[in-house]
Amino acid sequence: MEIHDDQFFFGGVSAVELAKTYGTPLYVYEEERIRENFRRALKAFQKYYADFRFFYAIKANNNLAIANILRQEGAGIDAASVNEILLAKQLGLGGEDVMFSGNFLSDDDIRQGLESGVIFNLDDPSLLPRVLRYGKPELLAFRVNPGYGECEVGSFVCNAGPDAKFGVHPDQVLDAYRAAKAAGIKRFGAHMMPGSSIRNPEYFGFITGLIMDIIGKVSRELSIDFEFIDLGGGLGIPYRHEDAVLDIDAAAAKVAKVFKEKIAEYGMKPPRLMMEPARYFVGDAGYIIGTVHTIKDSYKRIIGTDIGMNVLARPALYGAYHHIYVNGRERDHRKPVGLCGQLCENTDFWVHDRPLSENTTLGDLVIVENAGAYGFGMSYQYNGRLRPAEVLVKDGKSWLIRDRETYDDMVRHVHVPDHLK
Ligand SMILES: Cc1ncc(COP(=O)(O)O)c(C=O)c1O
Repeated sequence: MEIHDDQFFFGGVSAVELAKTYGTPLYVYEEERIRENFRRALKAFQKYYADFRFFYAIKANNNLAIANILRQEGAGIDAASVNEILLAKQLGLGGEDVMFSGNFLSDDDIRQGLESGVIFNLDDPSLLPRVLRYGKPELLAFRVNPGYGECEVGSFVCNAGPDAKFGVHPDQVLDAYRAAKAAGIKRFGAHMMPGSSIRNPEYFGFITGLIMDIIGKVSRELSIDFEFIDLGGGLGIPYRHEDAVLDIDAAAAKVAKVFKEKIAEYGMKPPRLMMEPARYFVGDAGYIIGTVHTIKDSYKRIIGTDIGMNVLARPALYGAYHHIYVNGRERDHRKPVGLCGQLCENTDFWVHDRPLSENTTLGDLVIVENAGAYGFGMSYQYNGRLRPAEVLVKDGKSWLIRDRETYDDMVRHVHVPDHLK
């Protein structure tokens, strides 16, 4: 993103032009930024541990145009559901380029996941006998919950640690692998999530030590040569401008140092090191452009826009912060205002007392930053407000990569029985 004369540009295309061409609310993604993010991280990790690979957690942004950028860069896919395995297939990826890390799977999920031939990552030992009813995965991992998780928006949304619904308790891990080995499974990996949006490089070293102590003992006890250890995602981005940027080189150095030390300590055959981030690749490459439609001066001034919690759920869902700009007005004097969307829910009033230009007026474009991850994917149709369009930008050009929803999309899957007509 660039600002010239107080006007915002994405991949060389102005916010005004994008809004005019595609309407608002509009998700905009910068292709080059995604590639830069991926390359920076890959370079850092491969510098310290050559046998390293990234998988992209496609749940964060499942637009196939975005996922294809990451595939071109060499990423595999981390899939949370059977449909995400199908998305990977559409990208031309399958087998060991795809990791199925679902949780609380149904029997159907298990059967289809197994049939797809991807790496199976089990969230609980109780899943193993259910998997074995349908067959044996070629390559199996368990998701370990090491008992810690660091998260940007608080422990109640954290994907690791004692309050998380995810992963196998450390005390159950040895028996889980023992049972899998006894069942005749021959190839193994291990997985964990360290938390989410972590910007402290030290933490990545710490959490690597935790999983390696658990898996090192399993390796020694059961004579398993682990083929990979997947440290999950969680590489953070600064949502607030005062937040520090994650020093990715330092994080990679810490991880690799601990990883190698633990391999030596437990006498392991060096496994491939993997991670499956998403936010770090796509988060800061995505923006939402919206329009100011109404301004209300009641108990306080409220700027009404078309960016509601239906378009960006994170603030209402878990209090996440997103920086907001007003196109053409960033040099103005500011005063604290509220900002909301158009839904009949007060959680849609997602910005309070934020200093924005005091000249903000009807028709202005507002820009929401860091919306590339967990943005569109969490959007929905409440109040008959339809999902936005998505656009990719690069070198002064733009491509529509998802149509704006229409009324027909909203009613397409609805059936009214004859007696109600
Ligand atoms: C299993 C798994 N892997 C990877 C990720 C990606 O996490 P992040 O976007 O924080 O890197 C997630 C996110 O929830 C996840 O659940």
